[in-house]
Amino acid sequence: MASVCLKDIVKVYGSDIAVRGINLDIPDRSFAVFVGPSGCGKSTTLRMIAGLENISHGELQVDGEVVNDLPSRDRGVAMVFQSYALYPHMTVRQNLEFSLKLEKLDHSEIERRIDEAVTVLELHPFLDRKPSQLSGGQRQRVAMGRAIVREPRVFLFDEPLSNLDAKLRNQMRVEIKRLQRRLQVTTIYVTHDQIEAMTLADFIVVMRGGNIEQTGTPIDIFEAPANLFVAGFIGSPRMNLLAGTAVEIDGQLCFSNDDFTVPLPSERFADVLSAGQEITVGFRPEDIVPEQHGIEPTRSVSVTGAVEFSEMLGNETLLFFNINQTEIISRMHQPRIVESGETLNFLFNVDRIHVFDTQSGNSVLSDQVTVG
Ligand SMILES: Nc1ncnc2c1ncn2[C@@H]1O[C@H](COP(=O)(O)OP(=O)(O)OP(=O)(O)O)[C@@H](O)[C@H]1O
Ligand SMILES: [Mg+2]
Repeated sequence: MASVCLKDIVKVYGSDIAVRGINLDIPDRSFAVFVGPSGCGKSTTLRMIAGLENISHGELQVDGEVVNDLPSRDRGVAMVFQSYALYPHMTVRQNLEFSLKLEKLDHSEIERRIDEAVTVLELHPFLDRKPSQLSGGQRQRVAMGRAIVREPRVFLFDEPLSNLDAKLRNQMRVEIKRLQRRLQVTTIYVTHDQIEAMTLADFIVVMRGGNIEQTGTPIDIFEAPANLFVAGFIGSPRMNLLAGTAVEIDGQLCFSNDDFTVPLPSERFADVLSAGQEITVGFRPEDIVPEQHGIEPTRSVSVTGAVEFSEMLGNETLLFFNINQTEIISRMHQPRIVESGETLNFLFNVDRIHVFDTQSGNSVLSDQVTVG
């Protein structure tokens, strides 16, 4: 077990900078999840921690010890890949044994570790099969088994579930969480999947373009995104964003643009905004409720909109309408078919508004949110 600490870590490939000096403290036993758009440096960071890529600049510490120059096998880390990376000509048992034999462990110690992993992952029935004779989920369990038997200080997962179908992915997600709770091994996990990020993470690291945009608990990141990028990236469907200006109307601070005026709760915003400031406000889809179709907010602004189209998802319905050129998505917690063209009053929940400075892109409450 170990903490992992990244200090100004940089990765340069030729003239390209893949990772731009990131700083991160991952406490012992915690579960960190990296998310971000394709190419933002998630795998590169993970591979540097694993020792599969050299670190161009900066310092990597595992349990307080600098490991930049330590070969991968001596770092006490084990990585699980999206592609599973099993040896196709070996049986499941041989795949599990392989790294332990290289380490020249005693036969009895090898048996003990394999037995434990096989029990935890329920792999007994498959020990004599080759990977080609296994389903995707079973292969993934073998890949995890191979990491577990090494009894690492740190688990690294790079999109381990992305080749599985949705149902299996949900099952394996719960298994990974259970396993990590039980083994208490510090874990760093890369994913594209928002549900995996929200449910697995003790804290989420949102990356973009080789930088960390925000670090925080799932609830922090969702409730208090540090900037417009994080606001738009986390949450599905994405947060609705509207650009305009802060104005004062009869002593009340408001957001206003050509279409729309919203009073801004003064207890949150009076001290951080000034009239005339260019701001962008955000409402999550669930904070825009069609009147008479769900729990209505106590303080709201009503906008009448013609539904352009709707998506009935079973337990909820997404409604798409426009405020002038801007498409707005509302989430209705009712499975109801809404015809295109149907006009509804949408209530924008004023107490749930997010406010960003348009120019910097940062939350106007950024002093109060955790930033990476
Ligand atoms: N071996 C390499 N040589 C040159 N450039 C590379 C190499 N590996 C990665 N890169 C570049 O580094 C950047 C970060 O890549 P990385 O694989 O870390 O992205 P990622 O966040 O894992 O993306 P994805 O979500 O698509 O897996 C990309 O621009 C990529 O093209
Ligand atoms: Mg990747």
